[in-house]
Amino acid sequence: MLYDLVRGTRSFRRFKEDEPVDIEILRKLVDLARLGGSARNVQPLKYMLINAPEVNAQIFPHLGWAGYLKDWVGPEKGERPAAYIICLLDSRLCSEAECDLGIATQNLLLGAVEKGLGGCRIASFSPALRNVLKIDDELKILLVIALGRPVETVVLDELEYGGDIKYWRDGDRVHHVPKRSLQEVVVREIVDM
Ligand SMILES: Cc1cc2nc3c(=O)[nH]c(=O)nc-3n(C[C@H](O)[C@H](O)[C@H](O)COP(=O)(O)O)c2cc1C
Repeated sequence: MLYDLVRGTRSFRRFKEDEPVDIEILRKLVDLARLGGSARNVQPLKYMLINAPEVNAQIFPHLGWAGYLKDWVGPEKGERPAAYIICLLDSRLCSEAECDLGIATQNLLLGAVEKGLGGCRIASFSPALRNVLKIDDELKILLVIALGRPVETVVLDELEYGGDIKYWRDGDRVHHVPKRSLQEVVVREIVDM
């Protein structure tokens, strides 16, 4: 069911690091990404696929994890991502693609969850990452997607009106994500009488 897949497509930040993600799976995920809508159909997004542990280890220190969890610096060894997809903007084609990026990465993450994997979008990365990955000058890193088989449980909580939107972890390390209610986000219904 689409509803269950969407509900299950959460941001996962702890993985089975020693369970590799095959390059063919990464290609299939990008195949889903590239089929998404694109403003003016320019399709300026490009991707770099990585599942090599030695390169994963070079990428990891450049990423910022879960800013609201002040006492957690990110996944420990053994729970780090097994693969990454780097989302790039080809600046020869256009200068921004935030909507395209949202659509593409949601397609990609839905596909990952359908395959028993999970991931997290990471916009908090250091500029030095482009040197680590030897990114060509015309390509700009927009987002890093960390991927792997999740080892954490993520649950959605219904947010009360005016409540705190910050995600949090309970004593069992279950990650809670408050979501605004349907009633709160629908500002108005104009109904056919
Ligand atoms: C554009 C974007 C950038 C994000 N950047 C980061 C990030 O740098 N680090 C991180 O840990 N999570 C990041 N996230 C994940 C969000 O924290 C997450 O989507 C939010 O907490 C809601 O959880 P959910 O994805 O499970 O609904 C990002 C999400 C989006 C959509």
